[in-house]
Amino acid sequence: MTLKYLITGATGGLGEQVLNYLVAHVPASEFAAASSNASNRARFEDRGIAFRHVNYDDQESPDLGLNDVENLLFVSTNVFDIERRHKQHQRLIDSAKKAGVKHVRGLSIRCTLSIRLLPSVGSRTTPRPLSSKPISSRKDLLKS
Ligand SMILES: NC(=O)c1ccc[n+]([C@@H]2O[C@H](COP(=O)([O-])OP(=O)(O)OC[C@H]3O[C@@H](n4cnc5c(N)ncnc54)[C@H](OP(=O)(O)O)[C@@H]3O)[C@@H](O)[C@H]2O)c1
Repeated sequence: MTLKYLITGATGGLGEQVLNYLVAHVPASEFAAASSNASNRARFEDRGIAFRHVNYDDQESPDLGLNDVENLLFVSTNVFDIERRHKQHQRLIDSAKKAGVKHVRGLSIRCTLSIRLLPSVGSRTTPRPLSSKPISSRKDLLKS
């Protein structure tokens, strides 16, 4: 079944906030949470939240995990190695393209749900397709 939204980094501080927003505003059948650690499956499924395994450090799990996803909301890791961070983003974008994901929205060092932060070193690694339209509101985040 097609998922309207997939949120990655859902175990983290920022991702959990986005997930809570989805739980409160979107039918459970329309979204799933992702983690790089497959053992986190029960943590979400016990709450009635569908789970996908997506690890930005390999290509296989995003290739599988992004199947039948319409909108990918991805949270960057807190990795400060710029090269590694760039590779993580690139793998995810490659998988999203292969899977035919319609929209990819990134939540990184540059922005949160409702505010835009000053550009920082990490923002240089944001892939070009994601850098053109900063998210400025919660409504923007879920717009498709
Ligand atoms: N928190 C904020 O208020 C805030 C504000 C502005 C910007 N940011 C930026 O947003 C990003 C996340 O911040 P955060 O505070 O939510 O950090 P965090 O609590 O450390 O969460 C990072 C998330 O990344 C996931 N992750 C780690 N390695 C991964 C991998 N290899 N593949 C896929 N996912 C992986 C972790 O989940 P798993 O280990 O379960 O995969 C975790 O959920 C950072 O870039 C941060 O600078 C955060």
